[in-house]
Amino acid sequence: MQTYFSTLAMSMVATLSLLFMSACHSNSNSGSSNSIKKANFGKTKAGEATEIYTLKNANGVIAKVTTYGATLVELHLPDKAGKLADVVNGFDNVAGYEGDGNQYFGCTTGRVCNRIAKGKFTLDGKEYTLATNNDPNHLHGGGDKAISKQVWKATPMTGKAAVVFTLTSPDGEEGYPGNLNMKVTYTLTDENELRISYEATTDKATPINLTNHAYFNLGGAGSGTILDHELTLNADHFTPVDDTLIPTGKINPVAGTELDFRTSHAIGERIPDKGVAKTEDCKTSTLGYDHNFVINVPSGESVALAARLKDPKSGRVMEIYTDQPAIQFYSGNFLKNQTGKGGKTYPFRGALCLETQHNPDSVNHPNFPSTILRPGETYRTTTVHRFSAE
Ligand code: GLA
Repeated sequence: MQTYFSTLAMSMVATLSLLFMSACHSNSNSGSSNSIKKANFGKTKAGEATEIYTLKNANGVIAKVTTYGATLVELHLPDKAGKLADVVNGFDNVAGYEGDGNQYFGCTTGRVCNRIAKGKFTLDGKEYTLATNNDPNHLHGGGDKAISKQVWKATPMTGKAAVVFTLTSPDGEEGYPGNLNMKVTYTLTDENELRISYEATTDKATPINLTNHAYFNLGGAGSGTILDHELTLNADHFTPVDDTLIPTGKINPVAGTELDFRTSHAIGERIPDKGVAKTEDCKTSTLGYDHNFVINVPSGESVALAARLKDPKSGRVMEIYTDQPAIQFYSGNFLKNQTGKGGKTYPFRGALCLETQHNPDSVNHPNFPSTILRPGETYRTTTVHRFSAE
């Protein structure tokens, strides 16, 4: 089926390859007024110092990232009248991130994001057991030593608005095998893109699935719900899940279901508190969307336009390009009026996540693309968030 979106995605392909290449090679922003500033973000409960870096591009777009969890804390974008608003959920300091209200806001999530059934997997004949921190499953890398809860080392880059975060997760941490060396780079370009690139190496075979867990409300974080936001997903298929949000292993078409976002739909349109679920296999709770979609990648390409999100009121638009095979669309179902930055509150469905990744529980589903990284290999992936207003 040739939708408007897939046509758009195909016409973007050439641009995309260039875009990704420039992400890797271009280091010069000469003539622009990009800048990076560093500040204190407070001490963790364990007494570790954290920092926050402010990246600013030539158009005045601002992104702030902290060493705690290599987390995106703020993102200030212009609306159609040029007015800036911070569009991501977060907290004013590290204490907020360590508090109960934090639902992975903006963090680098892993070692394996999303769920692993019952916290178990077998790799090369050996069974591994992980924390079941989302009863009965493992979620987003586990407990206190999950990479989203650790303080990363930051190195600002010269000549552009970019920061590189590094962290080594030792062999056995949170139950995962191998010393895993990770590098996450945030780059804010003068094309109003936020690029997030990941790299990792290991000394033992291990599953890896890194993502960013930013919660977006393009009307401004804390400005209400995202039910009016219009979403397009470049996905013909999704992975149905059981009652605990673990994939059954099927890869089903979205056609004829409430998960068909191949043309733009307002998010609230099909979840009017009756739940998303009308079709047997897309069932989840009545809370809203929490589904994993298989991204359509044009043949011969490795990168695709995965999602387009628009807030009709402010006119802000976000497009997400990625080399990852899947995207989790989560409609803020567990938000419950947490108090965040500047005293703003984040209501139920007050923000949404579009997390590029491999399918959940891939380590237990040989029919899904592999998430195993082996010694000698380098894990490399990039997701680009491109912002505009119309
Ligand atoms: C992901 C999951 C959700 C939820 C949030 C965090 O997006 O898919 O079910 O766990 O993270 O609260």
